[in-house]
Amino acid sequence: MSFPKGFLWGGAISASQAEGGWQEGGRGVENCDLIPAGPDRFAVMTGQKILALDDTEHYFPARNAIDFYHHYKEDIALFAEMGFKCFRTSLSWSRIFPKGDEETPNEEGLAFYESVVDELRKYDIEPLITMTHFDIPQYLIDNYEGWGNDLLNEFYRRFVTAVFTRLKGKVKYWLTFNEINLMCEIPEGMGIVIRKEDNRAQKKAEGIHRIAKACADTVRLCHEICPDALIGCMKMSSLAYAYTCAPEDQMEVVRHDHSMDYIIDIQARGKYPNYYLKQLERDGAKLDISEEDRKLLAENTVDFISFSYYNTTCVSADPQVNAEKSGGNGFAALKNPYLKASDWGWVIDPIGFRVLINQMYDRYQKPLFVVENGLGAVDSPDEYGYVEDNYRIDYLRDHIHQMELAIEEDGVEILGYTAWGCIDIVSGGTGEMKKRYGFIYVDMDDEGKGTKKRSKKKSFDWYKKVIASNGSDLS
Ligand code: BG6
Repeated sequence: MSFPKGFLWGGAISASQAEGGWQEGGRGVENCDLIPAGPDRFAVMTGQKILALDDTEHYFPARNAIDFYHHYKEDIALFAEMGFKCFRTSLSWSRIFPKGDEETPNEEGLAFYESVVDELRKYDIEPLITMTHFDIPQYLIDNYEGWGNDLLNEFYRRFVTAVFTRLKGKVKYWLTFNEINLMCEIPEGMGIVIRKEDNRAQKKAEGIHRIAKACADTVRLCHEICPDALIGCMKMSSLAYAYTCAPEDQMEVVRHDHSMDYIIDIQARGKYPNYYLKQLERDGAKLDISEEDRKLLAENTVDFISFSYYNTTCVSADPQVNAEKSGGNGFAALKNPYLKASDWGWVIDPIGFRVLINQMYDRYQKPLFVVENGLGAVDSPDEYGYVEDNYRIDYLRDHIHQMELAIEEDGVEILGYTAWGCIDIVSGGTGEMKKRYGFIYVDMDDEGKGTKKRSKKKSFDWYKKVIASNGSDLS
C-alpha cells in the first residue's frame, strides 16, 4: 500500500507557540502575549482573569516562544532535510496590523512572512498558512470589545486582503481560524468580549456569527485574489463514543457532535444547521441573519476540511459516570477502558483516527487535510540533545497506518498530513515546554531558560524515511 502521488507530508506549528519576537519588526501586543504558563493560564484564556502587560509574577511563553522569528532559516533547513513537502504555520495578526484597526499594514510584518514563505519555496516545501491560530491584537479587545463589535469584520478583511495580496502565487493552501469549533466554546479565547452583565448566550452567538461571516469573506477573497489557491476550515476533531450501548448514551453522542460541528457545518455547507438554531432558542439567544449574510455564507464554502486529531472521548448520560472526566484536548474527557493514555491523560486511539476520517468525509464529501496529530511527551535528551523517542514513533506509525487504511480501503481523499509541533514548541493548552511533540529537540525549559539549540531526535530519521518512501516504509 502507498499514499497518493503528491501527498503533502510535513509538519505544523503556530505563531504564538513558536515565533516569539513579540517586540520586533513593529509587531503589536496580542492576546496570547498576556496568557501565562502555570495555574492561571486557563482563567486568563477564558477571560476570568486579566493580567497586565507589565506583570512580573508570571512567565508569558508566547512572547519569545522558541524564537522561530530568528531561527526560521535553520529550522526550515532541518524540515527540508527530513524531506518535508509541506509546512504549516500561522500568522500573528498583530505583526501585520499591530493594533488591528490601521488602514495600512506593517511592511516589516508582511516582509517577515514573505521571507518565511520564500525560504520554504527554496526547498520546494509547500506553505500551508493558517490566518488565525488563537490570536487577536490586544488593542482590538481593549478598545472594540474584539469580535463583540461589527467593525472587526472590516479590520479582519483588511488583514486577510493584505496577506493574500502579498503572498498570492506563493501560497497554495490556506486555512481560516484554527480549531474554530473549540474556540467557539471558549469565546473569550478568540477575542469575543463578554461582560458579567451581558446575556452570555446572545453575545457568544453574535460573536460567532461575525466570525462565521469573516470566514466566508476570507474564502471569497482568497478565491478572488489567489484563484489558484485552495482554502479550508480547521476543526478540532472530537470523536465521541457512547460510554455504554444505552440509547441515552448514544443520544449524548448526537448532542456532543452537534456542539462540535455547527461552525464547521456553516463553513462547509454554507448555512446554519437547524439543530444549532434550535439550541440558540433554548439558550435564549436570537440571531439576526440578513439575506446578505445568508448569501455570503452560501456562496463561500471551503474547498477542503482540515482537522487536528489527538484523542477520542466517551460520553455518557449518567452524571455519576461523568464525574470521572480527566485529560483531553480542549475539554476533559471520559476515559475509555479499552485505551491507554499519554503522560497528560489523552487517550491514544489510532483506530479512532480512521473512524473519524470516515465520518468527516461522509459528512462533507470534500477532501480532508490532517493538519495536526502527534504525541505530547516528556523527552530525556542525552548530552548531545539526542532523544530516543520510540514512544513518539510508535504513536505516529500507528496513526499514519490508520490514515493509510482510510485512503486505501475506504477511498477517502486526503491531501496531506502535517505532524503537530514538528519542532518542539510551547504547549498551547498548558504553556509548558516539557510537553514536546517534535522530531527536533529545542533546549528550553518551562520558564523559557535554555540555549534554544536545536538537535535531532530518533524520530527525525524515522519520519525522513516515511516521507522518502511516501509512507510505504513505516518500520
Ligand atoms: C491543538 C492546537 O488544540 O492542540 C495547538 O491547535 C495545540 O495549538 C495542540 O498545541 C496540542 O495541544 P497541547 O496543549 O498539547 O499543546
